[in-house]
Amino acid sequence: MNPEKPAVLFTEEVIRRRVVEMARRISSDYADVEELLLVGILRGCFIFLADLSRLLTVPRSVDFIAVSSYDRTTTSTGAVRLIMDLRTEISGRHVLIVDDIVDTGYTLQYLINALKPRGPASLKTCVFLRKRERFKMDCGIDYLGFDIPDLWVVGYGLDYANQHRTLPYVGSVKP
Ligand code: PRP
Repeated sequence: MNPEKPAVLFTEEVIRRRVVEMARRISSDYADVEELLLVGILRGCFIFLADLSRLLTVPRSVDFIAVSSYDRTTTSTGAVRLIMDLRTEISGRHVLIVDDIVDTGYTLQYLINALKPRGPASLKTCVFLRKRERFKMDCGIDYLGFDIPDLWVVGYGLDYANQHRTLPYVGSVKP
């Protein structure tokens, strides 16, 4: 375990308050749909998705998708590859992609492009953190928790070299 204790960016309480607000808005926006399908991008999404999904008041189900992570220090093209597909058909369904963080936006854009042709009734995105200065894509984010500076952030599902994922708060570490 990295001996460095991550500096606090968002406390558990601040996270909780924001997730409650996001869940209220999503529940209100989808109040009239039969069911919302939450699609989590593994692995970082798992804690945010667990909290968010349990706070929603609309009928919902959950599925997961996994993509290869690319080396951000050497890759400038943002090539992303699907490594685990959904188990569910999404045609005609209301789909909300859920992730912990967007950095460049390549992953999110890739998934939007991959899922749209499958004919969902709607396709929106929900992300807890965005590194605004690094975000390069045109795709908007429909539901955003917080914008953050370009830091290495950990906790609440986010890791640094697979450490700190289960930290209950969001903190930053020096790489
Ligand atoms: C993180 C995050 C996003 C992606 C965002 O995943 O969960 O899926 O990076 O980066 P981008 O906007 O530059 O494409 P990561 O590759 O670290 O894998 P993990 O979720 O398994 O930790």
